[in-house]
Amino acid sequence: MNFHLLLIQLIALCICSCIPKTECLTGNNVQYVKSKDLNFVAALAYVDKYKIRVFNVFCSGVLINEQHVITNEHCIRYKKPEDAVAYLGSFDLNEAQEFKICDWISYTDWLGTKVSEPKSLEFDDIAIIQLCDSVDTKIISPAKPLWTTYNYLQEKTGVTMAGWGLVEHDFASQYMRKATLNVVDQSRCEQQTQMRSIAVGRYFCTKVKPYVVGSGGDSGGPLLIGKNDLVGITAMRHTEHKKFSTTVNLHANLTYYKEFIQDYTNDYYSVLIQ
Ligand SMILES: *[C@@H]1O[C@H](CO)[C@@H](O)[C@H](O)[C@H]1NC(C)=O
Repeated sequence: MNFHLLLIQLIALCICSCIPKTECLTGNNVQYVKSKDLNFVAALAYVDKYKIRVFNVFCSGVLINEQHVITNEHCIRYKKPEDAVAYLGSFDLNEAQEFKICDWISYTDWLGTKVSEPKSLEFDDIAIIQLCDSVDTKIISPAKPLWTTYNYLQEKTGVTMAGWGLVEHDFASQYMRKATLNVVDQSRCEQQTQMRSIAVGRYFCTKVKPYVVGSGGDSGGPLLIGKNDLVGITAMRHTEHKKFSTTVNLHANLTYYKEFIQDYTNDYYSVLIQ
């Protein structure tokens, strides 16, 4: 083959595969996870019916005790628990353990059991998954919910986001990725996302330069302070967020959902950090 033609083809190939797709945790600040530190980050996938080890990941999640994984409500909507599994325990899906899912509940459904006219509607995007079997927490140590105030989170730097974002052609990444970002001042977050007043308090934003933005498979993944203090759940579904998706990430404010999480997981021991 003509050498020049080959070169042109090579360049074209490179350009096509180097353009970042918006569906993955992408940007210069993104790194592949290489240690066990984030073993509590779950990849939620459709059951591998034909046992061909094809990981059909649709969202991420976070293990918060031996049996519960937090994720987004939109990740479980229109699905059945028996059609999904959670992979936990490794940054490499091939090495991760597969856990069956027995039950799940969205915040909206939980609220429906508490009040006759739930006011949650489309602004809440959080759900809890119950695994059928307990995880050995000596091997996979769960993340710890950290209940925080607005002041505590405001302009916090060096927070970690992680997930199984989708890579090119809609195949899930076999490897977990993470990024370090900063929490955006709440008024700027509201302005940039055009957040409606009803959603305020439920979300906060993160940002970094050069930008990192997740979506798709990163939904439901953790936002962490330090190694394993969980303060937020990556929530990409928010429509107001779309046109700013190249700059900020939205996270569900875990503390806003404290009652729901404690009620469903029977955890009443954690304290509020001011
Ligand atoms: C998160 O929710 C808690 C409880 O409603 C609230 O005190 C806190 O200020 C909220 N955080 C943000 C960043 O809005």
